Amino acid sequence: MKKEAKIRPFWYSDIWLFPKIITIITSLDSKGRLNAAPYSHIMQYDVMPKNPRLILGFRQSSHTFENILATGEFVVNCPTAEYLDDMMQTARFWPEGVNELEHTSFTTIASLKVKPPSIEQCPQIAECTVDQVIRLDKSSGIIIGKIEALVFDEELIDMDRDERINTMNLPVGLGDQNRKYYYHAKLQPDNIIMHELEEPPDAMRGADTKTTLDWSEEAMVTLMRIPPGIRKMVTENTENWVREKGETIVTMELFMALAEEQGMSSDFFDRFRDERKKKPA
Ligand SMILES: Cc1cc2nc3c(=O)[nH]c(=O)nc-3n(C[C@H](O)[C@H](O)[C@H](O)COP(=O)(O)O)c2cc1C
Repeated sequence: MKKEAKIRPFWYSDIWLFPKIITIITSLDSKGRLNAAPYSHIMQYDVMPKNPRLILGFRQSSHTFENILATGEFVVNCPTAEYLDDMMQTARFWPEGVNELEHTSFTTIASLKVKPPSIEQCPQIAECTVDQVIRLDKSSGIIIGKIEALVFDEELIDMDRDERINTMNLPVGLGDQNRKYYYHAKLQPDNIIMHELEEPPDAMRGADTKTTLDWSEEAMVTLMRIPPGIRKMVTENTENWVREKGETIVTMELFMALAEEQGMSSDFFDRFRDERKKKPA
């Protein structure tokens, strides 16, 4: 039988189990002093490359939130599981002006687009500026951050997801007990489960997609690899656009030209062209 639980302050961690990303945000205060602290309430906001943005939730009195308001810049650094102890050092309530990284084995490197430095040992980094600030009454301060640069250890960028998951070794945050005992999980290579998203028996109908123009073979193969959830929208937008151009056949060149016009570079299609092989069981 199910039972409703009481919604208390910090319900998202008090009762609701919410596995999430572990990051350390580096920021500078108005005097230029470095601050670092862990943050997990982070997710994508705008997923398109034209104005890529993240949404982040803060305690409004945190030094990080205050610094971001004062300077408009911050860096989201993702530490590997080996650095969980160092990450927890940065979570302590150090006084204002303390550089938490001095209590860790982390070192910093200059960021590419913003003034706060990045953490050298973090393989995945987002350099951000402030897009919007939302202050909730007696609750979180929300920042929508514009991603100025996504920065990785070079060898990770072209890796397949399988290999990248194992190489990056990012921990998963499992929340805390009473703001004192923090739980994390390490991903073990033999404990990662991959599923291929299968098509319904009749893929076009399953995605509720109908074509009204002819499609070249290559364009059709690419269309069919676009996830069913967005395939109908992509088909309609593409056919309308091709019609406006006075064309009657959707070729790969037209398909890519439209994507380019919408801010997606042609390598966007590579992920649909390049079928990943299913791992042997
Ligand atoms: C794994 C982890 C994740 C955290 N995530 C958040 C978060 O998303 N938002 C928040 O306000 N505090 C979060 N905290 C708590 C802050 O890191 C903590 O209050 C810290 O002392 C703030 O430091 P600052 O004042 O230098 O910003 C988290 C702590 C840990 C250990």
